[in-house]
Amino acid sequence: MGLAPVRVEVENHLAMDKFVIRGGNPLLGTIHVSGAKNAALPAMAAALLTEEPVILESIPQVRDIETTRKLLAAMGAEVELGYGRAQHRTTISCRNLASPEASYELVKTMRASTLVLGPLVARCGTARVSLPGGCAIGARPIDLHIKGLERLGATIRQEHGYVEASAKRLKGAEIIFDKITVTGTEDLLMAAALADGETVMQNCAREPEVADLADLLNKMGAQIEGAGTSTIRIKGVAKLHGAKHRIIPDRIEAATFIIAGALTGGDLNVSGCEPAHLGALLQTLEATGVKTKPGKQSVRVMGDNPLKAADMVTEEYPGFPTDVQAQYMALATQAEGTSVITENIFENRFMHAQELLRMGANIKIEGSRAIVRGKTPLSGAAVQASDLRASASLVLAALVAEGETIIDRVYHIDRGYENIEEKLRGVGAQIRRIGEILPKR
Ligand code: UD1
Repeated sequence: MGLAPVRVEVENHLAMDKFVIRGGNPLLGTIHVSGAKNAALPAMAAALLTEEPVILESIPQVRDIETTRKLLAAMGAEVELGYGRAQHRTTISCRNLASPEASYELVKTMRASTLVLGPLVARCGTARVSLPGGCAIGARPIDLHIKGLERLGATIRQEHGYVEASAKRLKGAEIIFDKITVTGTEDLLMAAALADGETVMQNCAREPEVADLADLLNKMGAQIEGAGTSTIRIKGVAKLHGAKHRIIPDRIEAATFIIAGALTGGDLNVSGCEPAHLGALLQTLEATGVKTKPGKQSVRVMGDNPLKAADMVTEEYPGFPTDVQAQYMALATQAEGTSVITENIFENRFMHAQELLRMGANIKIEGSRAIVRGKTPLSGAAVQASDLRASASLVLAALVAEGETIIDRVYHIDRGYENIEEKLRGVGAQIRRIGEILPKR
């Protein structure tokens, strides 16, 4: 597969790429799913726990991975991103860690940078990580990461926008999360793997990405049981070693493609995915009249029925993922009737609605609920991507809009979708990228 390099920043300039999409084509054929960004990020952070190389396969070529590479390299890690050949194999060696610090410059562009906090304090006895600050989709604090590390015996100081954690050696403890947090569970899982004694974590996130991280850690010599359920038991070990691990398929990318197939009235085989991770989506789509056929590592979606409105509520896994809410909203604009979409995980995660309105959708936001009245014809417009999944929703809407849509600020989509325009073109979409290099202010 010919992979285009991720275009993000040219020295002192910002690459403000746009997508130009002409709607109306049903998506037909096979589209392939990449490795999960949200599983790859904690896996890369886990390499900090050992002096030996960790080899990760199926790492997607997206901007958040590049940010993580920079983050690790700034600490003295050697990261070799091998794209194209050898199944996107990445080797990370953290033999010498010069400075256990994650700077604001990197953390501000990717909140998941907080994932280095737990492993650094466990391995180095100290860590300094910038607070992520505000974010387009809500406040998103990291208090639960901090509370958990304190339970494991770390001393925490917050100063000048940084969290400083220190502990000669972490000690196993009982941790009960007040609220379910995905990266919080992962951060503390990594810290507890190298702590003295046993840790029992309750009310953990059950996302497949958490289980995938535990699989990797166990290959590295950790003793973890129960990942993927709400109670995880970790027997701390003195040392972890290198390992080789293949990242699970990206269920959010798969869901985006499945919705694209349904929305465009296509017949799409979404291959290389894990249907077991897509249960809530497939169930909701069934209620909208979409036919799907899960295979061993694929889902075929047949969009030949008219779409019917169906309500949807985002929840922690195994519920409907918040990361697919925006894409589902694009589908709801084309369904007959009124769909109520309730966002339970993040406040302020409806920014795509405003842009969908510009394309002709009828959406009313009432607090955490979006009321979508369909079906309204969409027409091409100039719109702006505001965050990663919002951009995906605009791409989907553009695929069924009459005429041409220009989506600005697609650097958001490049954070988490590998080569999306080439993949969509391969199944019949009319989408191209145009570049504009602006001086940084
Ligand atoms: C992860 C995903 C992100 C997804 C989200 C929810 C990664 C890299 N990112 O983000 O794509 O949208 O899960 O499925 O895996 N919270 C607190 N205190 C904390 C931590 C979280 O109050 O210390 C709150 C958040 O504000 C939010 C909720 O808990 O309301 C869930 O957030 P969380 O699961 O932590 O999201 P992330 O792990 O950041």
